[in-house]
Amino acid sequence: MPEEKVMIFDTTLRDGEQSAGIGLTTPEKLEISRQLDRLGVDIIEAGFAASSPGDFEAVQNIAHEVRRPIIASLARCVLPDVDAAWNAIKDAERPRIHVFISSSDVQIMHQLRSDPESVLSAAVASVERAKEYCDDVEFSPMDATRTDIEYLYGMLEAVINAGATTVNIADTVGYTIPAEFYNRIQLIKENVPNIDKAVLSVHCHNDLGMSVANSLAAVTAGARQVEGCINGLGERAGNAALEEIIMAIETRPDLFNVGTNIDTRQIYRTSRLVSDITGFPVQPNKAVVGANAFRHASGIHQDGVLKERNTFEIMDPRSVGWPSNELVLGKLSGRAGLRSRLEELGYSLDQDELNETFEAFKDLADKKREVSDADLVALMSVRRRRVDVPAVYKLEHVQVSCGSHEIPTATVRIIGPDGNATTDAATGTGPVDAVYKAINRIIDVPNTLTEFRVNAVTEGIDALGDVTIRVEADENAYLGRGSDTDIIVASAKAYMNALNRLVAAGNGHAGTDDPSP
Ligand code: KIV
Ligand code: ZN
Repeated sequence: MPEEKVMIFDTTLRDGEQSAGIGLTTPEKLEISRQLDRLGVDIIEAGFAASSPGDFEAVQNIAHEVRRPIIASLARCVLPDVDAAWNAIKDAERPRIHVFISSSDVQIMHQLRSDPESVLSAAVASVERAKEYCDDVEFSPMDATRTDIEYLYGMLEAVINAGATTVNIADTVGYTIPAEFYNRIQLIKENVPNIDKAVLSVHCHNDLGMSVANSLAAVTAGARQVEGCINGLGERAGNAALEEIIMAIETRPDLFNVGTNIDTRQIYRTSRLVSDITGFPVQPNKAVVGANAFRHASGIHQDGVLKERNTFEIMDPRSVGWPSNELVLGKLSGRAGLRSRLEELGYSLDQDELNETFEAFKDLADKKREVSDADLVALMSVRRRRVDVPAVYKLEHVQVSCGSHEIPTATVRIIGPDGNATTDAATGTGPVDAVYKAINRIIDVPNTLTEFRVNAVTEGIDALGDVTIRVEADENAYLGRGSDTDIIVASAKAYMNALNRLVAAGNGHAGTDDPSP
């Protein structure tokens, strides 16, 4: 077991949330933070407190509730940002202020319309201000991989002298390649005289598909903090996928000779939760967490794995918490069996939650007869959606008639906020269109459907269908998710979920003056 550790800095809630189309509510961010805590990340970047009241509130809530990891808030190198960051995290058990400023000529000249000397002074002044509040201060030169190296050395030396305890070399535009990045990290270690007084961190974007490789090259060169997002979420092509970095370090101790504080068995669950909450699917061939990551199609490979797993498998799927597709429970299983299986999958429920989940499980077992771990994970994610989005309107009934010579017609019954049921019907171009039009006749909230996706949660004709939609209203996007063995019902549930979010909205989506990096 290597003694030296690499700190894992998760920025799913900050850089990840900057992915186009993601807008998380505070309860959703809290739920992801709790899971990141279980995963064992060292630092959670909870948001960018000065960017909006919604972000401030989320950072503050996470700082209050999630006590083990360091909780960081991002801030530009302007004093009011630093003050806002501190106000949001000051109740954290282990607060960190993370300040950043552009360091490359192109960004200093054209984006900041400033000059290198002024930028250096702003960087030092902000680190000094942050240091007045808290010991743990991180500084990031933005676009560090396109920054003049001599300027970078001077800047790093100055901010460390001003009190920065972590310096983070950001490949903001995903420009570098592993050999070059390795070299830059080595040069920084050799030419910044006080570099041993700070943790050297890296933050890589994936524009050329090299963010994970670049991060790992930096680890071999001596970086001891790596930043990234679950499932590789993030601006543009995303940030480095943390689960890939972690599993590379775990799988090749012979190369990296460092460890992490991560409980790798929480990786799959974390990935699922983030995908579920953001509505960003994980591609099937994605390393570590994609549906095919541990699936062997070729006969030769299957034969090898059956004889000896490591012939074709470099990681044990159980080591990342992969649920088996073995059929674990059925129609006759009781509450105790359900509870114990869910506990093995990492879910602990109180009696009320168990009773509620048991009802849903019985419904599913009636339809499917046999229920696998993957079905249980899907059930839990459906339950979470119900808890997170208050169901102002409830779908009580949906019925569709359609076929090759029929005009698709849907009837729906919905319970409104006053508790009264309303029934209405509509025709459409297809069954889903008919259902959505019928719902619109009852819940009159103007919106545009911009995304509609159906996935099978498990294999087989009796699979649970998972529908993800996005609707837009008032320039905001609202996610809707619904699962059922009947995909029309799942589609109706997804639409109701999105409409309920829309109705309950009022929480901050960043506007055009959003200062996010
Ligand atoms: O990509 C970037 O440069 C950033 C910084 C704020 C670290 O996200
Ligand atoms: Zn970034």
